[in-house]
Amino acid sequence: MSKKILAFGASSSIHSINKKFATFAANQITDATVTILDLNDFEMPIYSVDREVAGGIPDLAKQFKAQIQAADGIIVSFAEHNGSFTAAYKNIYDWMSRMEGSVWEEQLMLLLSTSPGGRGGKGVLAAALSTYQWSNKNIVGHFSLPFFNQNFSEQGGITDTTLLAGFKEQLALFEGAL
Ligand SMILES: Cc1cc2nc3c(=O)[nH]c(=O)nc-3n(C[C@H](O)[C@H](O)[C@H](O)COP(=O)(O)O)c2cc1C
Repeated sequence: MSKKILAFGASSSIHSINKKFATFAANQITDATVTILDLNDFEMPIYSVDREVAGGIPDLAKQFKAQIQAADGIIVSFAEHNGSFTAAYKNIYDWMSRMEGSVWEEQLMLLLSTSPGGRGGKGVLAAALSTYQWSNKNIVGHFSLPFFNQNFSEQGGITDTTLLAGFKEQLALFEGAL
């Protein structure tokens, strides 16, 4: 049966390379129905305990959570801002973390990152792994792609053969677990 894959770049840039990378990864999965989210469709006030008390959880956070619950597997590619998550992503995560259960539920996940630089967003990917592995044991693969502009083409995906092999290994773990 066709698997439902939810994918997004954890960035609000309209040219997000992480959205491109997450989309590429999702489209590699055989027999999948892919939904790509854009964080700009989930822009909410900056989380604060006072706003939560005053107005509760915004509908957009509930809608994001519903997308997570409906998926068989989730692919996130994290953009790195100053060594960590983008504010756009972190805000959505903070609101969702105030809802019942863990944010990612028990969903299978593939965590990715990329950047124009040589570390490929390794810092933010490490932050995601160290935090989310506590709440979700079903993170089955992770990969960061360095030098995005040199190693990725819109038409062909990852162009470097060694990096492509490493990526495919992680993707296979995720696909195998679906
Ligand atoms: C405010 C800001 C901070 C950044 N900090 C980092 C960083 O710490 N490490 C890094 O590799 N790239 C950093 N970059 C460059 C991003 O990796 C680059 O903008 C990338 O395109 C972000 O991914 P996106 O296109 O998916 O948004 C930063 C960019 C911005 C605008």
